[in-house]
Amino acid sequence: MKYLNIRNIGKYTLAIMLSSMSFFSTSSCTQNKKTESFLSLKNGIGKDFLIGVAVNPNETSGRDTIGAALIVQQFNSIVPENCMKCAVIHPEENRYSWARADQYVSFGVKHHMFVIGHCLIWHSQLAPWFCVDSIGRNVSSSVLKQRMKSHISTIVSRYKGRVKGWDVVNEALLDDGTYRNSKFYQILGEEFIPYAFKCAHEADPQAELYYNDYSLFLPSKQHGVLHIVKSIRDYGARITGIGMQSHYSMEGPSIFQVHKAIDTLSSTGCKLMITEFDLTVLSLPNELNGAGIEQTEKYSMQYNPYAKSLPDSIKQVWSKHMKAYFDLYRSNKSKIERVTIWGLTDNYSWRNNWPISGRTDYPTLFNRDYTAKQFTKTLMR
Ligand code: XIL
Repeated sequence: MKYLNIRNIGKYTLAIMLSSMSFFSTSSCTQNKKTESFLSLKNGIGKDFLIGVAVNPNETSGRDTIGAALIVQQFNSIVPENCMKCAVIHPEENRYSWARADQYVSFGVKHHMFVIGHCLIWHSQLAPWFCVDSIGRNVSSSVLKQRMKSHISTIVSRYKGRVKGWDVVNEALLDDGTYRNSKFYQILGEEFIPYAFKCAHEADPQAELYYNDYSLFLPSKQHGVLHIVKSIRDYGARITGIGMQSHYSMEGPSIFQVHKAIDTLSSTGCKLMITEFDLTVLSLPNELNGAGIEQTEKYSMQYNPYAKSLPDSIKQVWSKHMKAYFDLYRSNKSKIERVTIWGLTDNYSWRNNWPISGRTDYPTLFNRDYTAKQFTKTLMR
């Protein structure tokens, strides 16, 4: 058995080797042996739950040949990092921008992946027109409902049967478990969530429908999610899963906290998705382990200690934390449907720019040169 090591072969050769694997795997016995000489996440940890990755247009267009091939070889589910967010896909009321989302969905379908849509209703990366009138005042509840219905049904119907699961509502709660005062909440109150789920269900009754949020290791936030799940059901709408965003750091959350969250959230009968998983090695003053994209800090060199490389001692601590999280996920595999990593390689990770722009971070399963990290290899078979 060999691990991928692109130091020994040219990048171009590797890209050809990787990209030809799906062909090899179906063409003949001899060629199957060749495929199997490479270890993959989907043949390893992917037997316990779907193993997914957030992808970008460079990868799904094939411009990043090596990245595209590595995704196909290693993962069996994908989620779009940005191209389906409201500001990107629906920038004006009468204009959708489909090119990147279409390419994303085609890529996933072509490679037989479990394709996720992210995300339909979110206060961030929201098109500026969505909740206001021409002079910037909040629209009425009926106008907002009509816009939400049109947005959700247009997108979900377009990809019906191909996108298998949707993050219907993203990040509606504050850390204390109460509702975020977003424009959706200001105009529609709590109803905006069940209403969004109802619209998504009507557009694709077979699709899995998720509520996705960060810091769900906080008991207060878990209570908020239980309330949301109940409110969706009381409304006569359908929710199938809860996405636990997992933008974690060396400071936590602890395994105990995540374990409690898994127990509490799965008591709803919803399947759990470990979404947006990454583990930063960088620290922050007052790190909260949240993921509010509006929470940012100014760059200073003291916050970028590993700009050139990551010391072995830190790699080991990172691996130890990752192992503990994956051990927990594995031992709860009956409750967890999918684990999705937020970004293919360290190079592509948003953590290099959030919450401080311009740092060098190491939060994903693959190195900047596309090689698997030591820990990652333990998840492969
Ligand atoms: C992030 C992307 O990774 C960045 O490229 C973008 O600039 C900001 O959004 N929670 C979410 C994701 O649900 O969509 C966010 O993704 C990270 C936090």
